Order: sequence, then structure tokens, then C-alpha cells
Amino acid sequence: MSELDEKIPNNVHLSQDPKLKRALEKWQPNFIEWWMDMGPEGFQTDEIYLRTAVSVEPDGWAHFDYTRMPEYRWGIFLAPSAGDRRIGFGDLEGQPAWQSVPGEFRTQLRRLIVTQGDTEPASVEQQRRLGKTAPSVYDLRNLFQVNVEEGRHLWAMVYLLHSYFGRDGREEAEGLLERRSGSPDKPRLLGAFNAPCDDWLNFYMFTMFTDRDGKFQLSALSESGFDPLSRTCRFMLTEEAFHMSVGDTGVGRIVERTAQLLRDGKKDVRREGAIDLPTIQKYLNFWFSISLDLFGGEVSTNAAQFFAAGLKGRHKEENYADHKALDGVYPMDLMENGKLTRSEVPLRNAMNEVLRDAYVEDCQKGVDRWNRILAQHGLSDRLSLPDRRFNRQIGAFAGGRFDPSGGMISEESWQSEADAWLPTAADRAYLASLMKPVYQPGKIANWIAPPPSGVKGKPFDFEYVRKA
Ligand SMILES: [Fe+2]
Ligand SMILES: [Fe+2]
Repeated sequence: MSELDEKIPNNVHLSQDPKLKRALEKWQPNFIEWWMDMGPEGFQTDEIYLRTAVSVEPDGWAHFDYTRMPEYRWGIFLAPSAGDRRIGFGDLEGQPAWQSVPGEFRTQLRRLIVTQGDTEPASVEQQRRLGKTAPSVYDLRNLFQVNVEEGRHLWAMVYLLHSYFGRDGREEAEGLLERRSGSPDKPRLLGAFNAPCDDWLNFYMFTMFTDRDGKFQLSALSESGFDPLSRTCRFMLTEEAFHMSVGDTGVGRIVERTAQLLRDGKKDVRREGAIDLPTIQKYLNFWFSISLDLFGGEVSTNAAQFFAAGLKGRHKEENYADHKALDGVYPMDLMENGKLTRSEVPLRNAMNEVLRDAYVEDCQKGVDRWNRILAQHGLSDRLSLPDRRFNRQIGAFAGGRFDPSGGMISEESWQSEADAWLPTAADRAYLASLMKPVYQPGKIANWIAPPPSGVKGKPFDFEYVRKA
């Protein structure tokens, strides 16, 4: 049963828990204040054609209509309970899933929820100025759709903190509104969520690669033995799919525009006011590598404990035959005395790497799609994922220097080559020079191709944003 007309729309029977309801209604104005301060700059009084989650039914959870963003109905929706769900992995495999927080795992669970929760408002902060330079109203609307849904994801995590963690949960919920992306004193918890995302190539790469990290974290948490976490993550994944498609198709449309120019013999793409493939590759290298860091160290006792305790599983845990993961080893190259050395890591300690594998495979499919666009235009140029050792700040390779194909190189070669591999100040300045807003429905900036269709059966030239 959904309580859609409540102040906080929900399907968790909030009205039957007055204490929790009051606590969340107290947090709500702080959230709105944060949204007005740190959410999309400008546009807050405009009407945006947005989808709103109104249930969790696969055939009709989304309602599309014009909404002013501060009036968006941020709700709390959990996927339906799976009856007598059992813990699917780890030492407690087969025991009933928890409906409340087990005391011995309380700190770890809270940490997992706060870490996930922190990424949601962080990305809204990173993207807050992009509306001013949107390449079309279609893209503008998609940006805001992503932003309001990240706001809803924050609500989802705050609901768990308030309802299952008492006072310290409420304090953590306040903290989620106090940290700021990129702030020197109160930064967001994870590196990629403090990186600037101030042009639209950054935005599409972020939604392609960093939101995709979100998909795999949510997928691993949806396996959790803590049932409310599992259920909320399962529903969040349906929204996450849209965010990734914005990135995937956004980069694809930039590649398409560039490919058209190259096919027509316009070799100097920048002279045509578009984005050259080497620059696209550099942005790809940057966002892929800092998103890889979000999975944590290659060898991790934390990851082993999370798995043992049944808190965080593998992507599609049901596809594995052995859910204990006590016996296996995971062979990987690690750094030893400054050299790459083949090592065998006990499987549970390699869980971050196992999840990263699934992520890399998924990213590769996206790059393959972009390369098909290049091929369709008769071009032999290709984009590629850099090796996972490239440009890492966290984990086994953080101390070394590696080229995009994973070869170890000296600090000196890194210093002389890095500008060819990662965006430079000049590249960012060039991108900034392209960022001129196009607000007329049906029109689009010169550096990106239009999408093949609009939103939810509406045409591309639909008025997705109505000025106040
Ligand atoms: Fe999210
Ligand atoms: Fe997202």
C-alpha cells in the first residue's frame, strides 16, 4: 500500500510510526534548504517535465508531468518483501534475513549506508551549475531528472538511518547535508565525488562511469542480509539505469557528431567547434580511473568482513555456485618491492576486485557501443578503457605509475606523458569555451548530435522545461 498523498510519499506505512514520521518531517526542511542552496542553480521556479516514483510496480512506478523541482515528491519506496528471504552468502548463509540491525554489525552497516548516502547529494552538488550551459532542453531535463532522483536516493538512505539506527543515525543524516563536494574542510567521503564536473563532457562521463559504480555498489548491497537495505537498493537500481543511459547515450551523441565531421573530411574537429576524439579519450581515462578507486583496495579485510557477515555480497550473487567463498583464491598482479608480482589472494579478501571485474566488463560494453558509431561512419579510430592500474589513487597501484595499457613506467615518463592521457587545463578551457546554453526546444549545440527520440514518447522538440 502506498501513502502517496502524505507529506512524505511512501510505501513503508510511515503513518503507522508517528515517531519516525516526526523525525523525518523534521529533517525534510533541512533537505529543502540544502536543495535550494546546493541543488541546480537557477531553474528552481521553472516547470520541468519529470518522472516521479509513485510505486514500485514494474509496470507503472513512474508518473511523468511538469513539476517545479523544490516541489518534487521525494518519496520512500522499498521493493516488495520477498517473504521469508534468507541470507544468501557468507558465514550466515541460509539464516533468515534481518528485519532489524544486528547489534554486532551495527557500526559496519551504518558505515555502508552513510558511504552510499553521501554520494547522492555529492553528485547533485557537482552538477549544480550545468543547467546554465545545457546543449538542449532535452539534456537540461535529463540533468534535472538525474538530480531529483539522487535527491530521492538520499531520502532512501536517510530513511534507513532514521528508522534503524536511532540517535546516531539521525546525526549521520544531518552530516549528509553538511559535507560539501570539493570542500577543503568538509569534503564528501569519496574521491570521485569531490572532483569538479563543470562541463557536459564531464557530466556524461560521470553518469556513464561514476553512476555505474553506483549500480554495482547498489547491486552488492541489494544482496545484503539486512533486508530493508536490500529492498531499498533494489528499487534504486531501476532509477540508476536511467542515469547511466544519460551518460552512455550522451557520450555516444558527442562521438556521433565528431564522427560526422571526420567522415566529411573535417580533420581539425576543434576548428568546427566540436570535441576531438583524443579529448574524449582523455575524459574517459579520467572518469574511468577515478571511478575504479570507488571499489576500494584490491586486497581488503573490510570487504572480507562485509562478505563474511552477510552485509555486502557480489553482483548477482545467485549466479555463483559457492556462496561461502572460503576456499577459492583470486590470482592478481600486485605490487611487491616496486614490481608487479603475481599473487593469489584468498577469495573473500578479493571481493572488491570481484565487483570491479563486473564493473569493468559493463563499462567495456559501453565503449564497444561508442566504437560501433565510429565504425558506422567508416572511421578506424577507436576509444578504449585504460588498464585498471592507470591513474589510481587507491589500492595496490596507487604508489606506482602506469601507462594506459598498464605498463609500469617511471615518474619521469609519467610527468612527460600525462598531458596526453588526462585532460589538461587547456582541454578543460576548450570544453568551457564550447559550453553555451541552447534553450530553444528542438535546437541543439553544435558539438553533440540530437538524440534519436525524446522522453517517454515525446518528441525531441517538446518543451521539456517551461520558464517561470
Ligand atoms: Fe544515486
Ligand atoms: Fe545515479
